[in-house]
Amino acid sequence: MEETATIRLGNENHVFPVVIGTENEKGIDIRTLRQKTGYITYDDGYGNTGSCESHITFIDGEKGILRYRGYPIEQLAESSNFLECAHLIIYGELPTHTQQREFSAKVLRQASIHESMRHLFEGFPNNSHPMAILSALLNSLGCYYPNLATNDRDQDLKNFDEAATLLLSKVRTIAAMSYRMMRGEPFMYPRKDLGYCQNFLHMMFSEPYEDYYPHDDVAKALDLIFLLHADHEQNCSTSTVRMVGSGGANLFASVSAGVCALWGPLHGGANMAVINMLQEIHKNGDDGSKFVAAAKSGKGARLMGFGHRVYKNYDPRAKILKVACERVLKALGRNDPLLDIALHLEDKALHDPYFIERKLYPNVDFYSGIILQAIGLPLDMYTVMFSIGRMPGWIAHWREVAELSKGRIHRPRQIYIGPGLRNYVNINDRNGDGPKSA
Ligand code: CMC
Repeated sequence: MEETATIRLGNENHVFPVVIGTENEKGIDIRTLRQKTGYITYDDGYGNTGSCESHITFIDGEKGILRYRGYPIEQLAESSNFLECAHLIIYGELPTHTQQREFSAKVLRQASIHESMRHLFEGFPNNSHPMAILSALLNSLGCYYPNLATNDRDQDLKNFDEAATLLLSKVRTIAAMSYRMMRGEPFMYPRKDLGYCQNFLHMMFSEPYEDYYPHDDVAKALDLIFLLHADHEQNCSTSTVRMVGSGGANLFASVSAGVCALWGPLHGGANMAVINMLQEIHKNGDDGSKFVAAAKSGKGARLMGFGHRVYKNYDPRAKILKVACERVLKALGRNDPLLDIALHLEDKALHDPYFIERKLYPNVDFYSGIILQAIGLPLDMYTVMFSIGRMPGWIAHWREVAELSKGRIHRPRQIYIGPGLRNYVNINDRNGDGPKSA
C-alpha cells in the first residue's frame, strides 16, 4: 500500500502522499497543503524542506556519506579527477575514452577570454575582492556569448554543452586574472599543453620570463580540492543557482548569483575564516584550548570549519582532505604550525561534550585552507577556489531546473508579522519631532 501522511488541523484530517527517494529518504508531499487547508509550513532555514527532486548528489549526513551520481566520494577521490567528475555530475555518467577526450578538448579550447574582457578588470580597484570580480565577470561572459545566454529556456538548453564547458574553463582564467590584477602583474595566457589544474597554476604563477612548474603533489592536491567541492546538493549557493534559474534566467546569470551566495563566512567563505581563526590562535600563543572554551560559552567566535547543517558526523570530504593536507606538507617539506593547531582543535572538540552533543565535526573547510596556503594562494582567493570546484554542481543543477517540463518559479511564502492595516498620515500630522518647514 502506498504510504501516506495525515495532518490533523482542527477536527479535519488531511492526507498527503509520501515521496520516497532512491536511498529510502522520505518526505511528505505537501504541494496541495495550502490549497486544501489554507495553511503553509514554516521552516526557517529550510532544515526540513525538500525544495526539489534531484538525480545528482546523495548525502546521508548521519552516516557521513557523500555520492556523486551514486559513486562514493572516497572512490572518486582515490581514482578519478576533477574534469572526469565534472562530466559525471553534469551528464550523469563517467565518460568513455572518446567522451573524456572530447570534453577535455572543449574545456581546453575555451580557456582564453575575449580580449576586450581584459578591460573590465581595469574598472575594478586593485583591492577589490576576487569574489566580487568573479561574480561580475561570470555574468558579463553572457554578454560576450549572447546566443548562449538568451533567457529562452529551449534556446539556452540547446546550447548547454557549449555554455557548460565554457564556464568550467573560463572560471579558472577569470580567477587567475583577478589574482594577477590585484598584484599589478601581467595576465598570463593559458597554454594548450597543460591539464586543467596545471594551466590554472600557470596562469596564476608563471611570469613572462619564467614558466612556473608546479610540484606534482600541488597540482594533484588542487585537483582533489576541486573534485571534493564539485557538488553538495541543495546548499545555499546551489539553491540560489536553482532559484535564479527557476525564473528562466540563463546559466551565466545563475552561476554568478551562486558565487555571491557562496561568499559568506557560513558557507564557502569559511575556508578563509578558518585560516584567520588559526592565525589568530597562533598569534595569541593559544594551542586552541582557549578558543574552544570561548566558542562553547557563546561569547567567542564559532569554531570555523566545524559543524554542518546536514552532516551530523565527520564530513567525508574533511577526512580525505586531512590526509591530503599531511601529504602535501610532507611533499613540500613544510611544517605548518597551523596544522598542529588544527589537529589539536579537532582533537579537543571531538572529545568535548558541547561539540559531541551538538554533533559538530570538522567540515570540508577545516583542512582545505591549510593546503591552499601551502600551494601559495593568498587568503582572499580561497573562496574563489571553492567556486571553481563548485562550478560543475551549479551547472548540473541549473540544467536540472531548466529541463523540468512542469518546473515552477521558486517562490516561498512567509508568515507576515509586521504591523496590521494602517491609514497613511500626512507628514505634518505625524507624531514625533513636529512639522518641518520645506
Ligand atoms: N562552533 C560552535 N558552535 C557551533 C558551531 C561552531 N562552528 N556550529 C554550530 N554551533 C552550535 C550553535 O551555536 C547551536 O548551539 P545551540 O543549540 O546551543 O544554540 C548548535 O550548534 C546548532 O547550530 P546551528 O547554527 O543551528 O546550525 P546550522 O545547521 O544552522 O549551521 C553551520 C550550520 C555550518 C552554518 C554552522 O555549523 C557554522 O556556523 N559553522 C561554522 C562555519 C562553517 O564552517 N561553515 C562551512 C560549512 S561547510 C562548507 C559549505 O558547504 O558551505
